[in-house]
Amino acid sequence: MPLILGLETSCDETAASVVKDGRRVLSNVVSTQHDLHERYGGVVPEIASRAHLERLLPVVRAAVDDAGMQVQDLDAIAVGNRPGLVGSLIVGASAAKTLAWSLGRPLIGVDHVLAHLFAPRLVEDASESPPDVIYPALGLVVSGGHTSLYQVQSANDVALLGKTIDDAVGEAYDKAAVMLKAGYPGGPKLDRLAQQGDPASQNLPRPLLGPGSLNFSFSGLKTALLYAVRGTPVGRGASSRFERDADDLSEQQRADLAVAFQQAVVDTLVTKLKRAYQQLGGSGAAPQSLIVGGGVSANSLLRARVHKLAEQLGLVLHIPAMGLCVDNAAMIAGLAHERVAAGQFDDLSLPVVATTSAHSNA
Ligand code: KG4
Ligand code: ZN
Repeated sequence: MPLILGLETSCDETAASVVKDGRRVLSNVVSTQHDLHERYGGVVPEIASRAHLERLLPVVRAAVDDAGMQVQDLDAIAVGNRPGLVGSLIVGASAAKTLAWSLGRPLIGVDHVLAHLFAPRLVEDASESPPDVIYPALGLVVSGGHTSLYQVQSANDVALLGKTIDDAVGEAYDKAAVMLKAGYPGGPKLDRLAQQGDPASQNLPRPLLGPGSLNFSFSGLKTALLYAVRGTPVGRGASSRFERDADDLSEQQRADLAVAFQQAVVDTLVTKLKRAYQQLGGSGAAPQSLIVGGGVSANSLLRARVHKLAEQLGLVLHIPAMGLCVDNAAMIAGLAHERVAAGQFDDLSLPVVATTSAHSNA
C-alpha cells in the first residue's frame, strides 16, 4: 500500500496526512481547536466533535492537495479509532469509512497510543532515510491521556509494564499551567515559563511509588505545587481559603515553581525508565532501543534527559521530530502500513473505542 491517507480526530486536533510506504510524510495537516477550548481551560467533548465535523473535509482536501495528488491516487484509508473522545472518534471513523467505501479502498483502524510510539519512525524530509528500530525496545508514551511504559516487540506488539494510576503527565502539565496562570495549552506554555526559572530555588516531591513500581502518580505532585503557589489553605470545609493567588507571585517566582514542577516530572519519568530497563535486563529481555512518543515528548527537558539516558544505557533513542510529537495523522497512516503488512484490515463495521488496546494485558 504505497499511499495511505490517515485521519485523526480523537481529541482536539483535526488532522489528515498522506504517508508513502508507511514512513515518508507527504503531507501533514493539523487544525488545532485550542482557540475553541481555551476559555474553558480544557477540552469540551461536545465542542470538539462539532468542530471535527466542520473541519475534517477541508483538512482532508488540504492533505491530499499538499501531497500533490487526488483522492483516487490513495491506496488505503486509515483512521485512529481508539482511544479518545467517542463523539470525536465517530466523526473521523465515519469519514474514513465513507472514503474507503466510495473509493473502493481498504480501511484500517489504528490505535492512537501505538501510533505515538510509531511517530519517531516517520520522516518529513524526502532526503532523510526513515530510521529502523531494533527490537525489543523500551517504550514510553507521555500524552494528555496516557503515561505508559511498554516492552515493545514490534510496532503492533507491546506489553504494558506500567501506567499512571491517576493523571496522565500531559494532564498534570495542563493543570499545573492553570495553577501557575501560564496560559493555554498548558504543557508548552509551562515548558517555556520553566526556562526562565532558577532550577536551584525550589524543590517539589518526585512521586516514585513503591521501590520496584513502574506505575506513575502525579496527583501528589500537583497538590504540592498547588500549596507552593497558593500557600496552605486556612480554615476548614466551605469556609477554607488559600493564603494567596498565583497573581500575588512575581513572574520570577512563577517561573521558579514551573521549573521545579518540570524537574520533578522529568526526574520521575527518567527514574521509571531506568527501573524498567533494569527489570527487563534482569529478566533476560534487555531492550536495545528506547522509544518515546506523545505530546509531552515535545518537552525540552524531557528530550534532553532521555537523550542522555539513552547514551548512558547504550540504547538507540527514537523520539519524534517536533512536528510529530503532538497529535497528527501521519503517525496513524504510518502505523496503518505496518498493519497492512501483517495482513490486518478492517471493514465498515470498525467500532470506535474510548480505551486503548495497548492496556489490554494490564
Ligand atoms: O499526544 P497529545 O497531542 O494528545 C493526546 O494524545 O493526549 O498530547 C497532548 C499533551 C497536552 O497535555 C499538552 O499540554 C502536552 O501534550 N504537551 C507538552 C508539551 N507540548 C505538548 N507538555 C509538556 N511540555 C511540552 N513542550
Ligand atoms: Zn495523542
